[in-house]
Amino acid sequence: MHIGVPLETRAGETRVAATPETIKKLIGQGHQVTVQSNAGLNASLPDSAYEAVGALIGDAGAAFGADIVLKVLAPDATELARMRPGAVLVGMLNPFDDDSIARMAAQGIIAFALEAAPRTSRAQSLDVLSSQANIAGYKAVMVAANQYPRFMPMLMTAAGTVKAARVLVLGAGVAGLQAIATAKRLGAVIEASDVRPAVKEQIESLGAKFVDVPFETDEERECAEGVGGYARPMPASWMLRQAQAVHERARQADIVITTALIPGRRAPTLLHEETVQLMKPGSVVVDLAAAQGGNCPLTVPDQVVIRHGVTLVGYTNLAALVPADASALYARNLLDFLKLVIDKDGQFHLDLEDDIVAACLMCRDGQAVRVNSR
Ligand code: NAI
Repeated sequence: MHIGVPLETRAGETRVAATPETIKKLIGQGHQVTVQSNAGLNASLPDSAYEAVGALIGDAGAAFGADIVLKVLAPDATELARMRPGAVLVGMLNPFDDDSIARMAAQGIIAFALEAAPRTSRAQSLDVLSSQANIAGYKAVMVAANQYPRFMPMLMTAAGTVKAARVLVLGAGVAGLQAIATAKRLGAVIEASDVRPAVKEQIESLGAKFVDVPFETDEERECAEGVGGYARPMPASWMLRQAQAVHERARQADIVITTALIPGRRAPTLLHEETVQLMKPGSVVVDLAAAQGGNCPLTVPDQVVIRHGVTLVGYTNLAALVPADASALYARNLLDFLKLVIDKDGQFHLDLEDDIVAACLMCRDGQAVRVNSR
């Protein structure tokens, strides 16, 4: 089949959906691959690296005109118009964006949004949320350390002792756990909280302290169980007690990294303005939920702002700040997904009995096939 790899055009998007490593494998399986010129440049992958493994370099028309188009983010209207009806699109297409999915359906393409894959062992190798959140968690700590006007580790020098930075991580999913591990490597003292009590052990095994907000009602306990491994919005009573715990811990902290998300909904507010007001001058907040409304109301998406003496970082695409590795991992995720939709004769094959394929399918035959119910 003819596989196309377009250049990502959204502002700040530096990643590319296929690397020479994955393209070499696709060509080895008998496919032809066209990479749009400069598609990999921001990820340190010049056209020559793609040509060296046998890819053709072409323009946007050639890349979008392929049988299978591999993207990082959903195409815009102009890009989508370049796709042929019946062609296949794979990417992080945002399964909750009904309008965008309706446009893809109207174009007559078959679209797969990999964020919709189930969080099961079999889906792990193509889990784009994990591969990219892992990078975002790491980079959040790097960005925080860069903004923080002090050292991270405890240091004993001839000029006196420097205290270790205190880091508070709110939300200990994939990104939060990587943030804890990274801050630990830099010598910080870490506390972390999550609505799911199951993560207590994981937090502690990484050397951080669990900030416990015990449940007081069956409703709270039930909500905290979540759905499909994901968090659900918690009752106001628990959120209030959590806010009090966060208020106390954040005042002691030097760096707060927030990662709490609820799929398809606005991110919960965990760090209130009254808490930020009482944080130490020079403290740093990195809000990984900035694109979903933020875990702190003072966060400004894609900006670094100072409020009440605290630096708030609202970057919405932290993985794109590590473009080479983010692309390498993402491209491998995509390659693993393609194995599920390309048969042994190298032809596209839609197997709706496969739970991963069925979950990721967004549209086909001109119809959106997935109603957002999560
Ligand atoms: P996410 O990105 O959707 O959310 C981040 C974290 O925020 C989660 O840990 C969530 O519990 C937490 N959160 C939400 N509301 C909160 C609140 N009010 N206060 C504090 N924390 C709050 O989560 P992610 O990282 O995508 O993980 C989702 C689930 O999938 C987890 O259960 C994770 O263990 C599981 N998972 C399973 C995999 C597999 O089996 N293949 C792979 C990766 C994740």
